[in-house]
Amino acid sequence: MNYIGSKYKLAEFIADSIKEVVGSFEGTTIAELFGGTGIIARNLKSEVKKLIVNDLEPYSFTLLKNYIGNTQPIAQSEALIQTLNDLPPFEGFIYQHYCAGGGSGRMYFSDENGQKIDAIRQQIEAWKKTQHIDEPTYYFLLASLLESADKVANTASVYGAFLKHLKKSALKELELTPAEFAITQQANEVYNEDANELVKRPAVQGDILYLDPPYNARQYGANYHLLNTIALYDDFEPKGKTGLRDYNRSVYCQKDKVATAFEALIADAQFQYIFVSYNNEGLMSKEEVKRILSKYGKYSLKTTQYQRFKADKTENRNHKADATEEYLHILVKNF
Ligand SMILES: C[S@@+](CC[C@H](N)C(=O)[O-])C[C@H]1O[C@@H](n2cnc3c(N)ncnc32)[C@H](O)[C@@H]1O
Repeated sequence: MNYIGSKYKLAEFIADSIKEVVGSFEGTTIAELFGGTGIIARNLKSEVKKLIVNDLEPYSFTLLKNYIGNTQPIAQSEALIQTLNDLPPFEGFIYQHYCAGGGSGRMYFSDENGQKIDAIRQQIEAWKKTQHIDEPTYYFLLASLLESADKVANTASVYGAFLKHLKKSALKELELTPAEFAITQQANEVYNEDANELVKRPAVQGDILYLDPPYNARQYGANYHLLNTIALYDDFEPKGKTGLRDYNRSVYCQKDKVATAFEALIADAQFQYIFVSYNNEGLMSKEEVKRILSKYGKYSLKTTQYQRFKADKTENRNHKADATEEYLHILVKNF
């Protein structure tokens, strides 16, 4: 997924930098409390003893349940995917509220793809209710749907707005493709909570904590509301032109609250090694992050240049592709 703040291109830099400090991942428990697409944890999954992952947003939780929570092969996965791909279209919630044919005035998906999302989503839920599928399979199928739907969304990357005309990729038929995950022998934990609350739990402790909080004012719940709606598939009244649902307002996206929340998180963290990704355009300055972390132990910093997230350039000129500095703040915590 083309995700705001994605560390996809930085995954190697981050993993190598962590390894330099801790020596080896063998036998370690690593927690990632702002998991997003889960790309960092996915890269480390085969190397560590255990992962604890979390994100506030339901769509992200769904991806994490699949990519990190799932460790054993899914029985009959190909047949299930095939059956879902072959379903007849259904005029459900997504079609009614987010496709032109539904009469809402919104066009996040083509009519055909909206109906296909509805058909697949309803079937996954029906299978869960009748216990035709177990929990790992449920999240595997749901993650597959979220990623496949995202590929044909008629947006300039995020769901804060839809495009006036169906773009080329949105005209393609949605094809449900399997969200393959690594097979491992682990008992990982996946949460859908506020990081500041979760970190206080006695069970949430380990060797390494990786934090990648939002760094600007763009709330993920607003920018990815439609993925939450597909993940939750609940009944609500979509609001306004964009069909927004009620969404989480993270303190990490609020200039006047972020530093206090960040310090509380660090203070409560039961991990010896803490790594924090942040960039030079964040709500907290490099110096502020350093000042906070330095209170809790031995601090150091690694920096790299990075081509930041960009929206579809041809269709949304507000987003520029330019280089930014990405920081990895490092704390070896005193206890
Ligand atoms: C910069 S993104 C993480 C990106 C991720 N590392 C990746 O590469 O996909 C920040 C994430 O923090 C989540 N988030 C925001 N506030 C949060 C909070 N208070 N607790 C937990 N997660 C939160 C957002 O939903 C978003 O997925």
